[in-house]
Order: sequence, then C-alpha cells, then structure tokens
Amino acid sequence: MTVQKVGVVGCGLMGHGIAQVAAQAGCQVTVLEADAGALEKGLGRISKSLGKLVQKEKISQADADKTFGNITGTGEVKDLADCDLVVEAIVENLDVKNTLFKDLGALCKAETIFASNTSSFPVSEMGAASGRPERMVGLHFFNPVQLMKLVEVVRTPTTSDEVFAEAKAFGEACGKVPVAASDTPGFVVNRLLVPYLAEAIRMVERGDSTPADVDAGMTLGCGYPMGPFTLLDYVGLDTTMFILEGWVEKYPNESLFEVPALLRQKVQEGKLGRKTGEGFFKWEGDKRA
Ligand code: 3HC
Repeated sequence: MTVQKVGVVGCGLMGHGIAQVAAQAGCQVTVLEADAGALEKGLGRISKSLGKLVQKEKISQADADKTFGNITGTGEVKDLADCDLVVEAIVENLDVKNTLFKDLGALCKAETIFASNTSSFPVSEMGAASGRPERMVGLHFFNPVQLMKLVEVVRTPTTSDEVFAEAKAFGEACGKVPVAASDTPGFVVNRLLVPYLAEAIRMVERGDSTPADVDAGMTLGCGYPMGPFTLLDYVGLDTTMFILEGWVEKYPNESLFEVPALLRQKVQEGKLGRKTGEGFFKWEGDKRA
C-alpha cells in the first residue's frame, strides 16, 4: 500500500472511527473538523475506544498509545494538502460535499486519492466536483467502524484501476473486508438495509406492531444482532432520513424510498437516536436505557 498519510474530514460518528482504524493500520492521520468542540469530542471517542480495546486485551497499551500518537487534529483544510488519501465523512449533503471536493481538488498534490464515506450520494458527482474524477472512489465504512468488518469500495465509471486497487488495499490494511460496489443508490448494503428500516417504521405507523416487538422478531427470529428500531437509533434517524430524501429526489417514483411520516416527526422533535439520548428508544450513552 502506498497510502501513508491520510486525511479524514469530519470527526463525528463515522469520521472518528475511520481515523482510528487508519491510525491502527500505521498511517499518519490528520483529522479535519471545523468545529473545535466536535474535534475534541471525536478525539475523546477514539481515546475511549482504544481504552476499550486495551481493556479487552485486543491491543496492548503501547499499541493504543502509538495509534493515538498517529492522529493529529486540525481546523485548517490546507493541512491536508500532502495527504496520499483524503476520506470525507461529513454531513450527508451533496452540495456541502461537492464544495469540499472542489476545494481539495484545488489544494491537494496531484497523486492524492479522494474518497467519500457517503452512504447514498453518487460518488461520480463528487469526483467531477474535485476536477479529478479518475482519482475518486467511495470508501463506505459501517457503524461502529472499529467493529464492523466490511468496507464497500465504490468504483465510478471514471475511477482508475490504480486508485481502485489502492483504496481496496487501504481498506484491507484497516482490517476490513472490501467489497466492490457500483456507484448506484445505497451501493450494496444500504440499498437493501434502508428500505427494510423504512418498512419497519411503516409497520409501526400502521399500528401493526411495536418497535420492541419488531426488534424481538428480527433478533430472535432471524438472528440479527440488532432489530431495525435499535439499529435506526444506533445509525441516527436524521442520517436515515437524509439517505431516503436524497433517493426520493432522484427516484421520485420508487415507493421503497418514501420517507415515513413517523421518521420525519421524530427528526423534527430532535429525537435522533442514541446521539440525542432518544429515538424510538431511550439511551444512556452507548447503551439502551
Ligand atoms: N471500540 C472498541 N470496542 C467497542 C466499540 C468501539 N467503538 N463499541 C463496542 N465495543 C466493544 C464493547 O466494549 C463490547 O465488548 P465486550 O463484548 O467485551 O463487552 C463489544 O464491543 C460488543 O459491544 P456491545 O456489548 O456494546 O454490544 P454487542 O455485543 O451488541 O455488539 C455491535 C455491538 C457490534 C454494534 C452489534 O450489536 C452489531 O453488529 N450491531 C449491528 C450494527 C450494524 O448493523 N451496523 C451497520 C449499520 S449501517 C451503516 O453503518 C451504514 C450507514 O451508511 C448507515
């Protein structure tokens, strides 16, 4: 793998995990987060996660210290100029992402690979915004990044063979199993997962079941580690809504992509799931109350 210096844009739920697994792979990681409070919180999460891994004897304290030492936080985009790879993990808003990639395209060295962790937007549009479509891929990690073994490597029609191979090697170095995906809505996993989550909400909207019963059904009946409502809370109701909204805009006639009214209502009420302490269930920190 030629990738040694990695930039991660965004230190939220996904960004902090991506920064951590890249640093665990031995890369020098610069995390860009405009909001100083969010940067501090994200770095705190990394520290806590490394602490858990030490406690479980998955890594040594020396490895944890080395990993944390590989990570530098910044508020300045110019600090990403000489990165070999920049992974974007900011808000699911295509205009905001395109603006970022346009800036990165003007700033970074010619060899830099650009990657987006988008769950749902066309990677090719971000590649076009960067002005370097052949150097753009999707690297879609799963939450929690530290534990989930998959990364989807999304290839657009213009991604070069070399960039795709490098992105795949980076995913493997981060301890993930890479799966190649086409640049289609939701790639492989979310194209199946998000309509399933929306259908679970519609079932409850109709009064056919309750979140607790649906979750019991899918965990005990199908062996899923979490039922759809716990997973919705875990991923974030706002994130799920943004994904569906992005699809509805592009595919208005696909009924599977319709945004359930109950999902909208919860988001309007600020009940976004685990991160706000309440979604479909109540949460205390990382655990269901
Ligand atoms: N870092 C390090 N260790 C962690 C950790 C972290 N961030 N989070 C949890 N752990 C550890 C815990 O300490 C715990 O250790 P222990 O078993 O020794 O006590 C262990 O990992 C398991 O965690 P929990 O006890 O909290 O709970 P579970 O046994 O239920 O496992 C889980 C948690 C792996 C998240 C499991 O519930 C699971 O696989 N859930 C499904 C998650 C999923 O589907 N993710 C994909 C979401 S979709 C997505 O991300 C796409 C996006 O685009 C929307």
